[in-house]
Amino acid sequence: MTGPGMLDQQVAVITGAGSGIGRAAAVALAAHGAKCVLVGRRPEALTETASELSTTSTIVAADLRDSATADIIVSTALAEYGRIDLIVHNAGVFAKRELSDIDRDYWDGIIELNLTAPMELSRLAWPSLIKSHGQIVLVSSLAVVQAFPGNAAYAASKAGLNALGEVMALEGREHGIRIITVCPGQVDTPLWDEDVPDDVRARMMRPEAVGDLIASLVTTDRGIDMSPVVIRPPVDPWQAK
Ligand SMILES: NC(=O)c1ccc[n+]([C@@H]2O[C@H](COP(=O)([O-])OP(=O)(O)OC[C@H]3O[C@@H](n4cnc5c(N)ncnc54)[C@H](OP(=O)(O)O)[C@@H]3O)[C@@H](O)[C@H]2O)c1
Repeated sequence: MTGPGMLDQQVAVITGAGSGIGRAAAVALAAHGAKCVLVGRRPEALTETASELSTTSTIVAADLRDSATADIIVSTALAEYGRIDLIVHNAGVFAKRELSDIDRDYWDGIIELNLTAPMELSRLAWPSLIKSHGQIVLVSSLAVVQAFPGNAAYAASKAGLNALGEVMALEGREHGIRIITVCPGQVDTPLWDEDVPDDVRARMMRPEAVGDLIASLVTTDRGIDMSPVVIRPPVDPWQAK
């Protein structure tokens, strides 16, 4: 059974919830009844997301690259709602540089947000997820299975995320924790705000569709485990004739 009410009494932490896929996932999870903890740096964007939700929510406006942030998120969720059932690790940075132009600061900045932050938040929330037999969604990327020029740091960060997910799935299984990794192709979000023609963006997936997919996946029967779920637009938005 899936549908409204499936996540009643459940508490979902969504990172990068102020825009794009994160906002859409929060809306979709709230539609299933989840209370939401919305994480991102811009409080006004998170407040806007909160206003779109059909359930109660709390905002944590913080930078996930700061070492204190994961602890603040977990403490806030537990203080407000007493439990954590779901984490959607969605906050991420997409940037392109050819290998010869990559310096250590650039590399570290991408790895810190896309890979280290999900590890740290998962680690600190793990005891709560054990109690709730909770779930983790990792928003990875098509870049893990398809190479694009300029993507060395981004693809490596997302490939690391997939690997982290595989190990957490093994370690979480005995505790009833499920890990779901979603690898999207192009989604029309602010990530593409710079210099992408309108017709190309129009051929990308809608963030609402991806948010709905995330909510559908976490409400599937817990007797189902999933390999990374790769999703893409029906035609390549850049190549379409
Ligand atoms: N759009 C695509 O085509 C696509 C394809 C594959 C995978 N993805 C992945 O999907 C995820 C969401 O991206 P999106 O497409 O929805 O783009 P987006 O709208 O730019 O979302 C990124 C979110 O991450 C938050 N964020 C960025 N840096 C942060 C930081 N240091 N600390 C806390 N939050 C931070 C941003 O909020 P603040 O600026 O307020 O912090 C923003 O809400 C990313 O992991 C991305 O890699 C996207």
